[in-house]
Amino acid sequence: MEDQDLDIDSVSEKKSQQEKKQSKIIFQSPSGMHDILPDDFLIFEKLRSIMFEEAYSFGFLPIETTILEQTALFEKGVGQGTDIVEKEMYSLTTKGGDKLTLRPEATAGIMRAYFEHGFVNLPQPVKLFLMGSMFRHEKSQAGRYRSFHQFNLEILNSASPASDFEILQLVYNIFYKRLGLKDIIFEVSSVGDKNCRPDYEKNLKSFLKNKKSQLCQNCKKRISKNPMRVFDCKEEKCARVASLAPKIIDYLCKACFKHFKNFLEFLDDCQIPYNLNPTLVRGLDYYTKTVFEVKIAENTKNFENLPKLSICGGGRYDELGNIIGNKRIPSVGCAVGIERLIDVLKNRNFQASKFYKPKVFFAQLGFLAKKKSFKLFQEFLRNKIPSAIAIDKDSLKSQLKLADKLKVSYTIILGQKEVLEGTVIVRDMTFGYQEIISEKKIIDYIKNKLKKAKNSL
Ligand code: HAM
Repeated sequence: MEDQDLDIDSVSEKKSQQEKKQSKIIFQSPSGMHDILPDDFLIFEKLRSIMFEEAYSFGFLPIETTILEQTALFEKGVGQGTDIVEKEMYSLTTKGGDKLTLRPEATAGIMRAYFEHGFVNLPQPVKLFLMGSMFRHEKSQAGRYRSFHQFNLEILNSASPASDFEILQLVYNIFYKRLGLKDIIFEVSSVGDKNCRPDYEKNLKSFLKNKKSQLCQNCKKRISKNPMRVFDCKEEKCARVASLAPKIIDYLCKACFKHFKNFLEFLDDCQIPYNLNPTLVRGLDYYTKTVFEVKIAENTKNFENLPKLSICGGGRYDELGNIIGNKRIPSVGCAVGIERLIDVLKNRNFQASKFYKPKVFFAQLGFLAKKKSFKLFQEFLRNKIPSAIAIDKDSLKSQLKLADKLKVSYTIILGQKEVLEGTVIVRDMTFGYQEIISEKKIIDYIKNKLKKAKNSL
């Protein structure tokens, strides 16, 4: 987890106030929250279909949990000392007195659902995926939103390192094979478990106490509460201290070491590239053993001056079941940040909209032609010819202008005369010539033209 101190809140707030004054906008989305506009939504939809397809192919099943959960679920599950619980939750008390929170992450809710719906009686492990909105009141800045979407993959009730590998392989397939992100890097580490971490934390604390004067105010506080978070600090002086601090990887007990070694052997065997990063810490307290983050090697346009943001993070959480349902359910999972991924893909000219691009535009003149055009347009759609029409427009000029903007291959023009004669005018938008075709033959005619154009590519 990155801990960004660069606050652009005040700048963007001033800017938005100015813009509001200029354009007289009365309402706008809450600070740090955003609408997903059509261009981004098309990429969003494309990602959703790729991710669902890959998850189904690995035997994962879909789940959606409630967006509001009991606040205590996150306090206990994610951890009291984490930034998420301390500073970032959108919490409320209902009129009936229930304390609820908009989910800042999905894993605790999925574990809650596992117990609540008796998933323990299903064949184990239970493999689930979830795509949905999360809410964190973070400092708003590029790549860090207050409402965002995650795609979660979780394998519940498997202690095997093979499951850790299965999650990574699936993420690798999505990013590398399906989305063509050839420069992804998996940063992996192990954070040990309740047997080895206490001893490590004792050593880390005593090391940090000796260097306290060299740490920032935040890290000074972290020493007693959450010493491993010092590795996450972006202050140069803290990074210097952290580079010399003892690393958890040297303190792993036999079981954690064996688990990590097996996991890495799987990665090596399947040639999944990774960097061992012994200072990798995650912003949620439930992790045990394996942790990982996925980053893009190249910084993208929107994040040029920021440290590399992770587009996916996850790991093993063997004790979360104990906390939520009083039963040990060793599990592993991860979540992809959809907005960050969309930013990366847009920067690389990822085209999702081409799948929806109309090839034919219907232009009409007069009431009779309007009705006829709309019927023909629907027939084209039934024949799977991507088409568009502007049924609200009367002027032929403005319709042809729109056809031009949509970059269609053909415009089919109908006036009163064509309706009465049972014909249409076909305008080739690339070469500008027109032909008169019988209405009955028009579908086959256009299908042939489009097929020929595709073959000549
Ligand atoms: P996380 O690292 O907090 O982990 O979030 C996972 C991903 O969500 C991040 O890598 C990032 O891409 C995206 N993300 C997080 N915060 C923001 C934000 N403010 N704006 C935009 N994107 C963001 C978890 O949430 C764990 N529940 C993951 C997990 C699942 N571990 C085990 N199973």
